[in-house]
Amino acid sequence: MSNIEQSDTFRLGDRMVKRLGYGAMQLAGPGVFGPPKDHHAALAVLRHAIASGVNHIDTSDFYGPHLTNQLIREALAPYARDLVIVTKIGARRGVDASWIPAFSPEELTRAVHDNLRNLGVDVLEVVNLRAMFGIHGPAEGSIEAPLTVLAELQRKGLMRHIGLSNVTPAQIEEGRRICRIVCVQNNYNLAHRADDALIDELARQGIAYVPFFPLGGFTPLQSSTLSDVAARLGATPMQIALAWLLRRAPNVLLIPGTSSLAHLRENLAAAELDLPDDVASALDGIAANTAPAHGATSR
Ligand SMILES: NC(=O)c1ccc[n+]([C@@H]2O[C@H](COP(=O)([O-])OP(=O)(O)OC[C@H]3O[C@@H](n4cnc5c(N)ncnc54)[C@H](OP(=O)(O)O)[C@@H]3O)[C@@H](O)[C@H]2O)c1
Repeated sequence: MSNIEQSDTFRLGDRMVKRLGYGAMQLAGPGVFGPPKDHHAALAVLRHAIASGVNHIDTSDFYGPHLTNQLIREALAPYARDLVIVTKIGARRGVDASWIPAFSPEELTRAVHDNLRNLGVDVLEVVNLRAMFGIHGPAEGSIEAPLTVLAELQRKGLMRHIGLSNVTPAQIEEGRRICRIVCVQNNYNLAHRADDALIDELARQGIAYVPFFPLGGFTPLQSSTLSDVAARLGATPMQIALAWLLRRAPNVLLIPGTSSLAHLRENLAAAELDLPDDVASALDGIAANTAPAHGATSR
């Protein structure tokens, strides 16, 4: 079994977490809506992640909706003391599986209570406010009003830490004037590198950067360079993509998503890969030859 017990850590809030974690979004049904195709397999994936040393899980109550958090609770409660579950709010789901912005004080408060109830905890460890100004990625717009609501809920003791998702550097600066921001979760991977400068700046500030779509999201990354490097190192392309992210900066925390036990094992084994400098340089060239990443409509 791949075990990431010895792998690097980085601070998330006031806890140190392994840099290789797990993203739970893929556990819900197609379109991140409805129950998983195999309930027992979903529980097995979650339990295997924890048994392998994962102590950082990313989720949201709008995955399913509600069902992904309920699966996490069924599989893992009572939770290990070192497990950090990070959730996100700022959207709700329509009956047609659509993603609807949900930023009123009432909607944000309800979302926090939904997460508490469905995860079965008294306090949420980290809540990300997921901005929804742009359809295909971050776009400017003030986050002051919803973040002030979140900061008030934090003062009431409903969450320990606050992060931001799908945000611009200006929104992060605005957010940091309102409350402490412990992590930023944006779309970033080998082929989609709009946040290169932001990652380095956040590293200097000691803030975790958590790329979503680390494997390319719903359309996993494909590149001949990636395949060639994988063949040369006796690894899979997805492992190389994760190893490149681990090498990218010390504040990068990974949450690759999968509903498959085999893929989970494969992804966790990426922690053992050491990329030589010439390989990392070749992989750096991929972004220059790639169109913007797909899948920007999901959360
Ligand atoms: N803040 C946001 O707006 C936002 C947006 C999207 C996602 N997220 C979070 O980020 C996490 C990661 O993103 P993601 O799950 O969308 O995308 P991802 O991790 O980039 O890729 C997931 C996709 O890759 C496949 N996959 C996983 N491991 C694989 C492997 N070893 N070989 C081949 N295919 C593999 C998965 O299918 P299988 O299930 O078949 O393995 C799934 O289709 C999510 O789980 C979620 O927690 C946040």
